[in-house]
Amino acid sequence: MHNSEHGPYEPKEEQVLHYEPQFKLIRCRINGERITQMVDMRASLTDMLRNDFRLTSVKKGCEVGECGACAVLIDGEAFNSCIYMAIWADGKDIWTTEGLLNKDGTLSDIQQAFVDEAAVQCGFCTPGFIVTSSEIVAKKKRFTRAELRKMLAGHLCRCTGYENILRAVEKTIEKNLEK
Ligand code: FES
Ligand code: FES
Repeated sequence: MHNSEHGPYEPKEEQVLHYEPQFKLIRCRINGERITQMVDMRASLTDMLRNDFRLTSVKKGCEVGECGACAVLIDGEAFNSCIYMAIWADGKDIWTTEGLLNKDGTLSDIQQAFVDEAAVQCGFCTPGFIVTSSEIVAKKKRFTRAELRKMLAGHLCRCTGYENILRAVEKTIEKNLEK
C-alpha cells in the first residue's frame, strides 16, 4: 500500500552528480605531423584516428585485438589500435597506411607490391597488413615463409588471400635489400 499520490513512482530528491574530467590534452606525431588534441579518456586510438583525423584506413574489425584490421605503427612497432587508449598516444610517433605513401604521393614499395601481387580483394584487412609488413620490411632482413606467417599471424583476411600477401611482402623485402 503506497500512501503518496505517486505510488511506487515517487520522484527522488534532486541529486548532484560529480563527474571526473573525461578529456585530456595529448601531443603526438601522426604521419609525420605534430598534433595537439583533446581526447576522450575512454576513446581508443582507432576512434581518435578515424573520428578526429579522418584516417579511415584504420579499420574497425573485431575491436578486441584479434583481427589486425586496426593496426598502426607506434614508435616503429605495429599495434592493434582498438586496444590502445588514445591518451597513451601522448608523446608517440604514429603512422597509418595513409602516411606510408612516398613523398610525391605515389604508392610506397609495399603498397605497390600488394597491388602488383593482387594481395587485395575486398581490401578490409589490407591497411593493417601493410602497416605490419612495413615494419617487417624495415628490418632489412630475409625471413622464411614460416617466419613471415608467424609475424603476420595477428592479421585475419576474410577473403583468404594469404599466399598473395606473403608474396607481396617477400617481393618488397628483396627489393629493399637491393637498395
Ligand atoms: S579491430 Fe583491432 S584487432 Fe580487430
Ligand atoms: S582482402 Fe578481404 S579481408 Fe582481406
